[in-house]
Amino acid sequence: MAGATKEEIELVLRSARRMKDIVNSADKKAPLLHGKSIVNMFWEPSTRTRGSFELAAKYLDASVINFTPRRQLRRQRGESFRDTLLTVTAMGADAIVMRHKQEGSASLADTYVAPIIINAGDGAHEHPTQALLDLYTIIEVKGHVDGLKTVIVGDIDHSRVARSDIYGLKKLGADVHLVGPRTLLQPELAKMGVTLHYDLDEALDGADVVNVLRIQKERQGIGFFPSEGEYRSLYGMDRKRLQAAKKDVLVIHPGPMNRGLEIEPDVCYGERSAVQEQVKNGVCIRMAVLYLTIIGGDESGITR
Ligand code: CP
Repeated sequence: MAGATKEEIELVLRSARRMKDIVNSADKKAPLLHGKSIVNMFWEPSTRTRGSFELAAKYLDASVINFTPRRQLRRQRGESFRDTLLTVTAMGADAIVMRHKQEGSASLADTYVAPIIINAGDGAHEHPTQALLDLYTIIEVKGHVDGLKTVIVGDIDHSRVARSDIYGLKKLGADVHLVGPRTLLQPELAKMGVTLHYDLDEALDGADVVNVLRIQKERQGIGFFPSEGEYRSLYGMDRKRLQAAKKDVLVIHPGPMNRGLEIEPDVCYGERSAVQEQVKNGVCIRMAVLYLTIIGGDESGITR
């Protein structure tokens, strides 16, 4: 999202709106990518992103395969990152959707092979399609993004979602606030043009949108600090806490949720939550991204 223009983001969002009509139709089919091949390569686990890219490809009538490259197997067989990409390219891939724990891996892949490379998450760096579906969900509920006080809560330092969301929200004119413990929210992030808080109630005051992030235990080398109990009592999102925000606040979460740690059931399953709609919108966004990157043009070509 760092390199995307406001116009490019808006094009994806308009295209996703058309894709949602397809997803809401009886057969969910539009042969817009007939004859195209898409390869999903996920070096890190994924439920939502991988599943929605696969469904998106199928709804648009592309051929799709999923590889889960195993590090141990690759080492035993001696195949490098580059050779693995060259192999799927030789199979005829038009696009490779990839998730990798290494920051910059998608950019590197783009220099190695000709198919379109779509970043489905690279370490703690970026997760652009998550940011696009978050923007789409906000617009669907609120009608716009500009001027909305949007609060991102939690493990900001380890979050690729936070970075991509900040870029996208800022480009569409939101007032972005970050809040979390000092161990998970470095002061340098203020350089992104956002307001930092370490007190949750202060950050939530008058919020239009609250994005609760997953605590990424797998990226915290020295163990989780503060303790889970401390974190829950200071930053865990429950209905009482949420009262500091506006009455019609929208709550989103990228998933998977650590329910009972960063978010309580009365919020994530409550009437202010759009967590399930985010997942559905993820399919529409990924249909739009596949279509626009492989076929090009604009949303006018998206017909059934
Ligand atoms: N939000 C997200 O990226 O979820 P997955 O890890 O399940 O793809």
